[in-house]
Amino acid sequence: MESPPKPEQFQILYDRGAIANRVKELGAAISADIAPILEPGQMLLVVGILNGAFIFMADLIRTITVPLEIDFIRLSSYQDSQTSSTEVVLLKSLEREIKDRHVLVVEDIADAGLTLAWLIDHLKERKPASIRLAVAIDKKARREVSLKLDYVGFTVDDGFLVGFGLDAARKHRQIPDICILNET
Ligand code: IMP
Ligand code: MG
Repeated sequence: MESPPKPEQFQILYDRGAIANRVKELGAAISADIAPILEPGQMLLVVGILNGAFIFMADLIRTITVPLEIDFIRLSSYQDSQTSSTEVVLLKSLEREIKDRHVLVVEDIADAGLTLAWLIDHLKERKPASIRLAVAIDKKARREVSLKLDYVGFTVDDGFLVGFGLDAARKHRQIPDICILNET
């Protein structure tokens, strides 16, 4: 039987209060940027990347004051060590049309950035009016491709993080704080 995780396995990096404050700031910045560019009757389309983004997105949209609707996308990426290329497969595509829409993509972490870079290219082919990118965590030092992040919750140098939607082998997403996972 699997033993329950020991409490000392997790070290809180950003607690729920700090996260809530930062999310509020991001929502205010997004609202201020989007309000002037939305046509009357138009809604911002917020696209969450499953699974990791769902908690950040749920918190974030409740701090955004412009009219919006949501959609989700699910990707699977796989690194080919032979060619050092990244293969990205769409496991779930968008249900809403994005042509001429203002789109905000929401992701949990920008790490190497390959998956996000692929997604932005993929979405641009559909000719949205604009695309912006919001991430809860930026692991900037690990970036392998150039990526423009418009809204960043926290910049983190290193460490494997769990909680606030982030998982380690599908576990620990429900922890309300962003924690460093220490292998014990
Ligand atoms: P990349 O930017 O293409 O390397 O992919 C980033 C993805 O890797 C994120 O969406 C996460 O799913 C995952 N990831 C990277 N770092 C962490 C971490 O510290 N904790 C949990 N997932 C992570
Ligand atoms: Mg992910």
